[in-house]
Amino acid sequence: MRIAQRLAALCLLATGACAQSLMEPLTIWPPGPGDVLVAQQPDNELSSMLNQIDPKRIQAIIEKLVSFGTRHTASNQTDPVRGIGAARDWIASQMRTFAAASNGRMTVTVPSFIQQPTNSFPNATLISNIIATLTGSKEPNRVYVVSGHYDSRVTSILNNIDDAPGADDDGSGVAISMELARIMATHQPAATIMFAAVAGEEQGLFGSDFMAKTLKQQGADVQGMLDNDIVGASKGDAGSNDPFSIRMFVSGLPPSNTASQNNALASIGGENDSPAHQLGRFVAEVSQNSVTQMNVRTIFRPDRFLRGGDHESFLDQGFPAVRFTEPHENFAHQHQDVRIVNGVQFGDLAEFCDFDFNARVGKVNGAALWSLAQAPGTPKNLIIDTSVLTNNSTLTWDVDPHQDEIASYEVVWRETDQAQWNRVISIGLVNKVTVDLSKDNVQMGVRAVGKNGFKSPAAFPMPS
Ligand SMILES: *[C@@H]1O[C@H](CO)[C@@H](O)[C@H](O)[C@H]1NC(C)=O
Ligand SMILES: *[C@@H]1O[C@H](CO)[C@@H](O)[C@H](O)[C@H]1NC(C)=O
Ligand SMILES: *[C@@H]1O[C@H](CO)[C@@H](O)[C@H](O)[C@H]1NC(C)=O
Ligand SMILES: *[C@@H]1O[C@H](CO)[C@@H](O)[C@H](O)[C@H]1NC(C)=O
Ligand SMILES: [Zn+2]
Repeated sequence: MRIAQRLAALCLLATGACAQSLMEPLTIWPPGPGDVLVAQQPDNELSSMLNQIDPKRIQAIIEKLVSFGTRHTASNQTDPVRGIGAARDWIASQMRTFAAASNGRMTVTVPSFIQQPTNSFPNATLISNIIATLTGSKEPNRVYVVSGHYDSRVTSILNNIDDAPGADDDGSGVAISMELARIMATHQPAATIMFAAVAGEEQGLFGSDFMAKTLKQQGADVQGMLDNDIVGASKGDAGSNDPFSIRMFVSGLPPSNTASQNNALASIGGENDSPAHQLGRFVAEVSQNSVTQMNVRTIFRPDRFLRGGDHESFLDQGFPAVRFTEPHENFAHQHQDVRIVNGVQFGDLAEFCDFDFNARVGKVNGAALWSLAQAPGTPKNLIIDTSVLTNNSTLTWDVDPHQDEIASYEVVWRETDQAQWNRVISIGLVNKVTVDLSKDNVQMGVRAVGKNGFKSPAAFPMPS
């Protein structure tokens, strides 16, 4: 029973009379044009890929990563069994095995650079990322990235000697990049997907910064980055347990924006409509279903307090990015020396991971990545006409250079105080439309519908 109805019922019982306004039912779906937006569901190919994500393989990957003792950024780079170098080589060799089954579509690179000393990191150090690139068959320059970091740490951020198992932080994220690379290697997405394991996260996001800047310099059209960092445990401290839920942190005003760009966005109430928000809305739409069995809890915040992650490197370059982190963290299992204090085990050990949960987070990522890479790109240069006062709204956007892959466009909209798009208006194959919907009252966006049925993330319009 809705709150207003319940109040009304109580009023009648208690007094036999009540204010008329209390008895009016709440309007759940605002009146207006279009239909209720029904979430895109995974097709057969995607469902089959998601069902191949294997908790046992995730477990084997995490245990193998733990077996390198430490993967500290400044640990040994040449020892074949202990240190970050051995971990790097093992991840790369696994990725090459996956690529071998791709008919040449997937290539594996290990881009490296020397990180110069910073205030918090004393010595010049070689940083290496491992990137498996599954090249898009139709739009190779449109790129989506999934990433975890393979470096690990203990209590002291410069301790490169002691065991730093890094099972959850962030063996769990690396396992998702690797498992999705294995499964998707034999498939053919329309746009490019990069499966990454990056290094130097703990000391300053070094590896992801290098990757994002390289992509920017190369002119890659990165339309989405998914960062998985601490996604391996469903139980937190104090007995909290939430194995079917994952947090998704979605940043607001892009850090790459100038002050005047932010002012322009704020002046139209666009604070909750950054490209990262649109990516987050897309992920929430395509990844909560019976195949993933997951609930995605969207949090409008760049990250948890006092924390950061590799998605920020991509946001800094102007690329939309979100971060996944388990629902309840246990801080005794993160960034801690492996030790027992008063009978309590500290340290980031594999025994605290829930591999079934980790696999389901992999499904959330897989559903999002594949749906992004199969859908048309996000419409570009979406403009809302503000030249005259009118109750209607006129939108224009660029003709997509890959228009031959597009069946039609849709206007999506929502009340301004709602988090997700929930109405949709079909408008056909056009690049200009006037809808009988006042831009004063709602938020609206435009998305492209592919001939294959996949729908893009929405673009948010700026005034002319
Ligand atoms: C790294 O390991 C190799 C092989 O065990 C060893 O020869 C080398 O001295 C180590 N390097 C450092 C910096 O400890
Ligand atoms: C930095 O180099 C010094 C001198 O070689 C060494 O003692 C120290 O362990 C190194 N620290 C890190 C974090 O690499
Ligand atoms: C705009 O809509 C309001 C009611 O929402 C109406 O009073 C007004 O006449 C409309 N203006 C035009 C130009 O249609
Ligand atoms: C506004 O939209 C309605 C419905 O589409 C249409 O009848 C009307 O002519 C439009 N008005 C303007 C000024 O475009
Ligand atoms: Zn981490």
